[in-house]
Amino acid sequence: MNGIKVVGFGHYVPETTIKNDDFKEIIDTSDEWISSRTGIKERRISITETTTDLAYKAALMALLDSKLTGSDIDLVITATMSPDSYTPSISSKLLSKLGIEKAMAFDISAACSGFVYALNIASAILGQNNLKRAIVVGAECLSELLDYTDRSTCVLFGDGAGAVVVEKTNENGYFYSMSKTDTENILYANAIRANDMLLNNETDNYHLKMDGKKVYKFALDAVSDAIDNVLKMSGLKDSDIDLFIPHQANERIIMSVCKHLNLDFNKFYLNLERYGNTSSASIPIALSEAYHNNTLRKGQTVLLVGFGAGLTWASTILKV
Ligand code: ACO
Repeated sequence: MNGIKVVGFGHYVPETTIKNDDFKEIIDTSDEWISSRTGIKERRISITETTTDLAYKAALMALLDSKLTGSDIDLVITATMSPDSYTPSISSKLLSKLGIEKAMAFDISAACSGFVYALNIASAILGQNNLKRAIVVGAECLSELLDYTDRSTCVLFGDGAGAVVVEKTNENGYFYSMSKTDTENILYANAIRANDMLLNNETDNYHLKMDGKKVYKFALDAVSDAIDNVLKMSGLKDSDIDLFIPHQANERIIMSVCKHLNLDFNKFYLNLERYGNTSSASIPIALSEAYHNNTLRKGQTVLLVGFGAGLTWASTILKV
């Protein structure tokens, strides 16, 4: 069966680390509250680097890992909900930085499901066109969207980027995917409007806002639905999956899903303890990290599952 395979993995997180206890200086919180409810212990925050800078470093690592060069790449897709410009896209800016002369390049917005959506889109485009290879990136500077007086959101998120180089294959490859959206406004960050101050004297309209309890409930259903659906579609059993890589939002969500679907929690790769929720970057960071630390090896089968604002959810099974 035709499919796509990953031939390069990369990730990058900014240097500055904010530990849970560091928040005690600005809000009423504790390491105990944050880690017991989410599993998060610390996160990385970008001080000077833009989302494009993070995306570039992850994409460059993936390209070097693939031993290909920019001229081998036909398509670049970046998933982000925190771009540093409305236009041009991050993907467009990556072309010259990575020495890609001509390629289709665009960004997509599907929040924490963004990377899985982007991979699914790349697979569809590569399947129908005379194009062979794509770089797919998830990159975020969520620290720029946070309200640091809102303790229920600001402790959850972090900055970073992950990327893969994927290649069309007709040997022993496969790719199954589902992507879904349901309109519900329980998690959002409005775009900054330059005329807000002039028209409404409003400057605080753009912070990320979330009804945590409702999102939690949605996440349980969405992750279960996404895993169940993609397994049924593929005809594979959960025992055929070598590694599950979920969106890194909350350890308790993953534990509950495992219980609900009777899955082995030890097969789920989690690094949210160190990076928090990096939205569209969380899955590719975990994928690259798992590959580079030998948790995931060439030829193995991985199931990716994302969920987030939109509301969106998506899953993919592929052989790496
Ligand atoms: N420190 C201390 N106390 C806090 C904090 C904090 N950082 N944040 C909230 N609290 C307080 C609340 O004010 C509340 O106090 P009260 O009872 O006096 O009013 C109490 O803790 C309980 O708050 P809840 O919101 O009920 O806490 P809950 O147990 O639901 O946990 C959490 C909150 C962790 C956010 C949880 O709801 C959750 O994980 N939701 C899902 C979030 C998620 O997965 N998002 C992913 C998608 S993100 C994306 O797409 C961009």
